[in-house]
Amino acid sequence: MKKGFIFDLDGVIVDTAKYHYLAWKKLANELGFEFTLQQNELFKGVSRKRCLEILLELGNIQASQEQFDRWMIEKNEDYLKYITKMDASEILPDVPRVLEFLKNKKAPIALGSASKNAKPILEKVGLLPYFESIVDGNNVTKAKPDPEVFLIAATNLQVAPQDCVVFEDAVAGIQAANNAQMTSIGIGDANTLTEANYNFNDFTEMTDDFLNGLLA
Ligand code: G6P
Ligand code: MG
Repeated sequence: MKKGFIFDLDGVIVDTAKYHYLAWKKLANELGFEFTLQQNELFKGVSRKRCLEILLELGNIQASQEQFDRWMIEKNEDYLKYITKMDASEILPDVPRVLEFLKNKKAPIALGSASKNAKPILEKVGLLPYFESIVDGNNVTKAKPDPEVFLIAATNLQVAPQDCVVFEDAVAGIQAANNAQMTSIGIGDANTLTEANYNFNDFTEMTDDFLNGLLA
């Protein structure tokens, strides 16, 4: 049976969480309150709109629709300033090794991300050619933990959901993979990603034997 591999972007392929954090923190500071790294954990895998809703709840701030939309734009403009400088040095450890391994095995690879900036980021870091399908925040109507993003990726790869493997760093992303009946692999803290089928701190821990096992 053909196996498909679906990667989340932020926190799995590249460490963009720090840039999202800086942009949200700048906005919070402008609005007169602090935004901590710990609070930023709540934003992983969560859509831009939902992140702003949470941020405003944290700051106890009410906003008109117009003001809300302006802050969404402002945050993204600040984020884009950070990511314009991104290059291959910001790829997380051993991601290219795993992508190359899967490519050599002719396993189809997709991206499944909530970000609307996914494609330009993959282009900047030079990994776009590995991906047969890019499903991102521009293609979905339901956010993780809804399985929509991964189910669309599976359809695009022409692989049955139960034969897909998902790499994720967010709790909502692991839940989305599980909801899609896919194999979920947590990249990050196993104490946080408790619902994942397998856990690794990062890809350096993932052996070729393990990857062969997924392909079998
Ligand atoms: C990923 C990140 C989130 C981010 C979301 C939307 O899921 O983990 O922190 O809010 O993408 O990203 P965007 O680039 O569209 O603002
Ligand atoms: Mg992520």
